Amino acid sequence: MIILEGRGLVRHYRQGSRSIRAVDGVDLAVREHEALGLVGESGSGKSTLLRLLLGLERPDSGELYFRGRIMNGRDGKQRNQFRREVQAVFQEAAASLNPRLTVKKIIAEPLQNLKPEFDSRRRLEEVNRILLEMGMQHGDRRRYPHEFSGGQQRRIALARALVADPVLVLCDEATSGLDLSVQARLLNLLLDLRESRRAGFLFVTHDLAAVRYLCTRVAVIYGGQIIEELPAAGLQEPLHPYTQALLAAEPSLFGAAAAPLLTGEPPDPAAFPPGCRFHPRCPVMMERCREEKPRLTGVAPGWRVACFRVNGSCSTGKGQE
Ligand SMILES: Nc1ncnc2c1ncn2[C@@H]1O[C@H](COP(=O)(O)OP(=O)(O)O)[C@@H](O)[C@H]1O
Ligand SMILES: [Mg+2]
Repeated sequence: MIILEGRGLVRHYRQGSRSIRAVDGVDLAVREHEALGLVGESGSGKSTLLRLLLGLERPDSGELYFRGRIMNGRDGKQRNQFRREVQAVFQEAAASLNPRLTVKKIIAEPLQNLKPEFDSRRRLEEVNRILLEMGMQHGDRRRYPHEFSGGQQRRIALARALVADPVLVLCDEATSGLDLSVQARLLNLLLDLRESRRAGFLFVTHDLAAVRYLCTRVAVIYGGQIIEELPAAGLQEPLHPYTQALLAAEPSLFGAAAAPLLTGEPPDPAAFPPGCRFHPRCPVMMERCREEKPRLTGVAPGWRVACFRVNGSCSTGKGQE
């Protein structure tokens, strides 16, 4: 069952005379119990898309559906259910922890709002339970955020997101900016959580290795658009040249980077090239890719690709956006 879905989402930012096309026509659905990875280079629109999906920002066009019903800002009941069921963890997790509150207060707060039927004793039990689940100690609940390392602060933010048993958790760069060993521990924790919890996850990251490790399904974003959507097993042999290049750019187990297929810079979101947005960097670019835009087209169950090399006939037409 689809819990959260964006259809035709567009978000452009005005910056002087420039229009930054951060998210430029995205359809994306997150299902119950799945772990969907959203990958792409820095600046490709991942965080903006996440804010749109969370309703933190309004799209210029497109709609949001929650449990099959269109999101309507005026429907208080729907908004409350959304708040109960959908939680988010941002990269700046540490900054989102109130420095004046103990860990217990921080984690118990969503319970007070979302599970008012719990008395203080039950809340304490839940806080202790989630701390253990996060690999922390019961005693940690009496301490303050600044007493913890970055990785632990990220766990506290995760604990707060998970304590009220959400249906969906959206994580923006949940592991980036941490030491590799801390990242590995956090990834293992997330993997355990994915298996032990009924929750579905959306992991937003530029780290394809993390996605391979954690996810059941992957969406690849380039220049504000999804260019490939595939089952995680498909990452063995992705079809879009950009996804292939991302994979090849990943450091191998032996420490050396594989063939550097990905050359050039990510596109300027205020001046995308015509045709396929990836064509200036594409190693297998064809003439038509300069002018025509490939459409995201199904190639197998759960697998869609926007590339003329893969599905030659599927364009949105010359010059058309
Ligand atoms: N509030 C904003 N105002 C102006 N430009 C923005 C804003 N938020 C994001 N952008 C721009 O939109 C593009 C996509 O950004 P973002 O969604 O943060 O990408 P990612 O998370 O993939 O790195 C970038 O060019 C970024 O500079
Ligand atoms: Mg981001």
